[in-house]
Parts: sequence; C-alpha cells; structure tokens
Amino acid sequence: MSPRRQKFLTVSAFCAVLAGMGVLTAYSVTLYRLFCQVTGANGTTQRVATESTHRIARSVRVRFDTNVGPGLPWQFEPVSPEVTVQLGQDALVFFRAKNTADHAIVGRATFNVTPEKAGLYFKKVQCFCFNEEKLEPGASAEMPVDFYVDPQLATDPNTADVHEITLSYTFFETRKPEAPLALARFAPPDPVLGEKLFAQDCSECHRLDRAVVGPALGGVVGRAAAATAYPYSAALKSSGLVWTEAALQTWLADPQAMVKGTAMPMQIPEPAARADIIAYLKTTHPGS
Ligand code: HEC
Repeated sequence: MSPRRQKFLTVSAFCAVLAGMGVLTAYSVTLYRLFCQVTGANGTTQRVATESTHRIARSVRVRFDTNVGPGLPWQFEPVSPEVTVQLGQDALVFFRAKNTADHAIVGRATFNVTPEKAGLYFKKVQCFCFNEEKLEPGASAEMPVDFYVDPQLATDPNTADVHEITLSYTFFETRKPEAPLALARFAPPDPVLGEKLFAQDCSECHRLDRAVVGPALGGVVGRAAAATAYPYSAALKSSGLVWTEAALQTWLADPQAMVKGTAMPMQIPEPAARADIIAYLKTTHPGS
C-alpha cells in the first residue's frame, strides 16, 4: 500500500470514529430519556394515552415545584402549590408561565418526581412538557397537566410507604426549536374577546338587562336556571341547574344535550371561545 493511501485510510478511520461519537452524543439524550421512560429510573414520569379507569380509597399528596433554567426570562409557577388525590383519581392542575422578555421565546420543560421510585406510577395523560412551547413577548399562559397516580403504588412493596410526591419542572430555553407549539392555546380566558363574541353570537337573542327572544343574561354566572321574568321552556324550568362556570361550559357546547327540550338553539363548539364568553358574562350584573 502506498504511504499516501495508508494515510488516507487512517484519516478515514479516524473520521468514522469521530462521526460515530457524534451520533452517540446526539442520540444519547434521547436514548437516556427512552430508558428512563421505560424504567421510571431517575424519577421520570410515565406518559399514557387515556385517563385512569379505577381509583382506590388511599390518597397521596402531590406537591409542585417549578424552576427556570439560567437566563430564561420567564415567570413560572403552579396555580395551586399542591393537590391531594386518591390513587387512580384523575387530576387536572395548572401551571402559569409568563414571558417577561420583549421577544418570543421557545422553552422546553424537563421534569422528574421525588421520591424517584414513584416515577413509575406517576402517569401523565396531558402535559405541556411533552412539547416545545412558544410564548410571545409579555404573554402568559395557564398550562394544564392531566395526571393520575397508579393504584399499584400502594401494592408495590418498594413504594407502599410513599404518601407524598413532589413533581418538579424546569423550563429551559430551546435555542434551535424544531416544532414549537404556541402557548397561546392555553391563554387565560379573555373577557374583552368574550364581549365581542357575545355581540356576534348571542345578542341576536339576548340582552343583559331585559328579555328579548331569550332571557336577560346580566349577572347570569351563579344564578339558578330559569330564574328571571321570561316564558322559559318546561324543560329548563324543571332542570334544577345553577349556572356555574362549568355548567355554562357544558350548556354552550350543546344546550339540547344538557337540557333535552330547551328552546335555546345556539352552540359554541370551541372551548376557548366559550371560556371567553363566560369570562365576559362574569363581569356583568343583573340589569346592566
Ligand atoms: C337564536 C336565539 C338564541 C341565541 C343566538 C342564543 N340563545 Fe341563549 N337562549 C335562547 C332561548 C330561547 C333561551 C331560553 C331557553 C329555554 O327556556 O329553554 C336561552 C337561554 C339561555 C340561558 C339560560 C338563562 C336562564 O335564565 O336560565 C343562557 C345562560 C344562555 N341562553 C346563554 C346564551 C349565550 C351565552 C349565547 C351566545 C353564545 C346564547 N345564549 C345564544 C335563545 C338564544
């Protein structure tokens, strides 16, 4: 072999080793994550597609801990610092993030639970930590996490003594985002937008201060159903409903499905639009 060819081979081999190392480093984070997800090692929580199907009487306290990585100008906190749930009970909790910078930033949250051995039984159905999340300048969002703690926690001798779990999140800035989702999808309900939607979708039949085609709606949040001077349908009169925010969410999605035989024909299919309208109705008063 000519010295020249030998040199070429050595350099090629060296490059191949280097490339191999590069590939390994690039994938090791992914591999490590995969390993943790399968084994629950290192307090990694489990991702599941569906909510829990059964619950047991024993409960566990879940505390939330939030952090931001160095240099990330986000405020990040749990809406409630902790929640107590029965094993197998679905819980929907919210985390608030605000971008205090003057430019949009993409972040990704890492997470773990302590004690680490509980990670195997901490099941997340929905979490902002599954995605890269983008926050516009000055914008905030309330991000949901839907989880349950598997009842097997109580039967595994290794975790039977666990009565308290801490779920920690740390947001880091993603410098080269691949497929960020807009956190605007979790924007808190906006009463100003709600007022516009009310004018567009409801005012044809509803006023705040008086009955027209439909009953007056000023101050409706918290009011009993069919409680104003208006010729209500028998169905709504006998419904026994109170217009809590949750009841209004269900009602506006499909009034006929909630109260069979009601005279209200309107449906608002988009949950965020319903939330905006309800946020606006909350600001109104009877007769206003
Ligand atoms: C095409 C007419 C029409 C539109 C549009 C309409 N509604 Fe109604 N709404 C009615 C009627 C009629 C009733 C009375 C239903 C009954 O008696 O069964 C009613 C009842 C209600 C009630 C129950 C009030 C009470 O006193 O118990 C609420 C709440 C309500 N509507 C909210 C809305 C909102 C919010 C919108 C807009 C997103 C809307 N409606 C759009 C006709 C309408």
